[in-house]
Amino acid sequence: SREIIIAPSILAADFSRLGEEIAGIDAAGADWIHCDVMDGHFVPNISFGADVIKAIRPVTSKIFDVHLMIAPVDPYLEAFAKAGADVITVHAEAGPHLDRSLQAIRALGKKAGVSLCPATPEAAIEYVLDRLDLVLVMTVNPGFGGQSFLESQIEKIRSIRKMIGDRPIRLEVDGGVTRDNAAAVAAAGADTLVAGSAVFRGKSTADYADNIAAIRAA
Ligand code: DX5
Ligand code: ZN
Repeated sequence: SREIIIAPSILAADFSRLGEEIAGIDAAGADWIHCDVMDGHFVPNISFGADVIKAIRPVTSKIFDVHLMIAPVDPYLEAFAKAGADVITVHAEAGPHLDRSLQAIRALGKKAGVSLCPATPEAAIEYVLDRLDLVLVMTVNPGFGGQSFLESQIEKIRSIRKMIGDRPIRLEVDGGVTRDNAAAVAAAGADTLVAGSAVFRGKSTADYADNIAAIRAA
């Protein structure tokens, strides 16, 4: 079976203690750190920018999986690359030049990902598969943590798993993932699971470790 990566989303962390929270999930077994960047334009919420990524970079050696929910996105790619992002994911809906954005991410020496909002069909990535290291399927409408999982996306996950074939592309699923639906999400074809509220629920790092283990074991 595919090795499952668990990527806790720090959007659900206590922002007054962000460094401690990241050290906590690092110790609690997080494989990647999912960083949700929101600009209040592409999505109806504002979270944090490249300076915060730069500030938390020294806290952990785990992969920074940076999810850019911003438009336009091209002007900011270099800043996130320099700040310490390892995977940079742009939204297919953020502008007309997805192929160029993916090329730019790889030219910066980073892994390139594309994210699809729930309404966006998988056909949107058909002509950029060779420029991808990761596809991020949104199972909520982007902008907020703690929303409910959209079951309609299971079919899209299955379809993208088929499109990927034997290409070295990770299939990440993001939004409303919990210990109760993780098995179905992985069975549909996901190999990388984002979880925010399902990990940061509870108050201590021990809780975080239990939550991550429960999702991984699903
Ligand atoms: C939503 C973000 C997700 C979200 C996940 O726009 O992209 O990563 O923070 O949080 P949960 O797991 O609570 O849905
Ligand atoms: Zn995300």
